[in-house]
Amino acid sequence: MNESFPAVRPRRLRQSPAWRRLVSETRIEPAKLVLPVFVREGAEAPVPISSMPGVVQHSLDSLKAELHRAAEAGLSGVMIFGVPEHKDATGSGATAADGILNVATEVAASEVGDALVIQTDLCLDEFTDHGHCGVLDAHGRVDNDASLERYADMALAQAASGSQLLGMSGMMDGQTAVVRAALDGAGFTDVALLAYAAKYASAFYGPFREAVQSTLEGDRRTYQLDPANRREGAREVALDVAEGADIVMVKPAMSYLDVLADAAATSPVPVWAYQISGEYAMIEAAAAHGWIDRERSIDESIVSIFRAGADAVLTYWAIEVAERISRA
Ligand code: PBG
Repeated sequence: MNESFPAVRPRRLRQSPAWRRLVSETRIEPAKLVLPVFVREGAEAPVPISSMPGVVQHSLDSLKAELHRAAEAGLSGVMIFGVPEHKDATGSGATAADGILNVATEVAASEVGDALVIQTDLCLDEFTDHGHCGVLDAHGRVDNDASLERYADMALAQAASGSQLLGMSGMMDGQTAVVRAALDGAGFTDVALLAYAAKYASAFYGPFREAVQSTLEGDRRTYQLDPANRREGAREVALDVAEGADIVMVKPAMSYLDVLADAAATSPVPVWAYQISGEYAMIEAAAAHGWIDRERSIDESIVSIFRAGADAVLTYWAIEVAERISRA
């Protein structure tokens, strides 16, 4: 055999940790991580979520502590979800000034509003008794335009509570334009919009239902995207950008890295990705069995999302990962 074979040796750059650090193309930075948090109405202490080990439904007090920890860990944002005590057909708790999400947002804004970008989930499913992201018509179908009116009111309530970035995860047509117009009409021109542009009808949202105590009647396939569709994801991104989205989101993350890469290549606004509850649960469960290395799997999953083109990532591991990076 020729002594110099092979002529090209990529392994040269992988010989030591220093080499690998030097040629690494992607790094996870705490500043690019956003922590989703659940806040439960009436809770006096944090309540564990069994399908998401390590994640809780916060009380207002434990929320405060978590937010300070997030800021100290160097995160830049938090996404707040409310878990109301009572649900009804129109999700009235979403627009009530004393609804749990709006109250928690006020608390967050006054505690850490300078250190973190305070973000809120703008969707009705946590608040409706049927579990859909909108209101239903007489035939039990999700009524797009009636839902938009609820989103506009919800946006005003969240903006008034101090939310700085509204996470529009409802997947109604026209939601970005309607919410932008409502905010501008009320003088909230500085409140930004994060459009869940390419949000797929995923089985991986499963543990989220326990987190927000939602029982869904039917499924979300008439408004969330079909997992089979890539081009449609790009179309939704383009629509939300045209309607005035300040940031667009792809969700879930790991199974949709192609959609994310498409969005990253074409979007004129930042592209974020949401590593959702089922992605979290799968890794925690496999790691708990000793089948995969927990920390390496977490880091690999997150770095892959950045590698595919995300500018920031929502992940339930945000604090843990940020603290680990700072210690390294
Ligand atoms: C809608 C919303 C959902 C998630 C975030 N916002 C649930 C859904 O659309 O079914 C899922 C987040 C997760 O699974 O971690 N309010």
